[in-house]
Amino acid sequence: MGELDMLRNEIDQLDRELAEVLEKRMNVVMRIMEAKKRMGIPIFNREREHEVIEKVGSYVVNKQFHEEIESILQKVMACSRKIQSTHLFPYHIVLIGFMGSGKSTVAREMAAMLAKKSIDLDQLIEEKQASSISEIFKHKGESAFREMEKELVKEMAAQKETFVISTGGGVILNEENVLNLKQAGVIVWLKTGAEEIYHRISENKERPLLKDDMSVEKINALLEQRTSLYERAADLVIETDQKSVNEISLEIVKKLGSVNNAGEN
Ligand code: S3P
Repeated sequence: MGELDMLRNEIDQLDRELAEVLEKRMNVVMRIMEAKKRMGIPIFNREREHEVIEKVGSYVVNKQFHEEIESILQKVMACSRKIQSTHLFPYHIVLIGFMGSGKSTVAREMAAMLAKKSIDLDQLIEEKQASSISEIFKHKGESAFREMEKELVKEMAAQKETFVISTGGGVILNEENVLNLKQAGVIVWLKTGAEEIYHRISENKERPLLKDDMSVEKINALLEQRTSLYERAADLVIETDQKSVNEISLEIVKKLGSVNNAGEN
């Protein structure tokens, strides 16, 4: 056997060992998940991930490979999160709530936490139409936008892969949207007070429904029309005032554990 063949054999053997070790690791990850569930301990813990990466880094003798091995470990841990979240949440997590309630930001944070993808319906509409939401409202009108929103909701709800979905604030205005989203996911209402909403969005001119009257009064008036719809659509309600994006995301993950009813409504 030539030298190259011998080295390739050695690599094959190491890959086999790697696969076996990774499989063992993933089985333990599943057992940790079950144990944490039983004990009521949060399953997703970033600090613990940092500790693991640091510890493994200290085992690497050749410092030249330090960075690569750390980045492989990061990937391994993202896979663990994915395995756990696929098992725990095999459905879309759908965020609803008024403009400025933090749906898109929380969706991105949750997606990173759960190693799922996040999908922003408004952003997808903008990409599909190659136009901003305010331009669509201006040139085609709100009802054309609502039609696009309805079609997209239908399309996303039917996807096999599950996502963290952030919706536009008015998605609940159409009952068909709520039914489609409920069938494929758990709906989480990010409940935010009018004052807080005003502070978050008053500088932003991109919200067509508030462009002529950006005030707490107008927000309150719209909220009054919509609150019962958010309430009715929601499987879970999370108060967001004075909470960080990370706190909100962890609270959702914790509470989702008790609502495992997606697709069974
Ligand atoms: C709307 C909210 C917006 C966007 C559109 C209509 C609404 O989304 O869909 O301007 O009716 O509340 P955000 O809630 O993400 O701002």
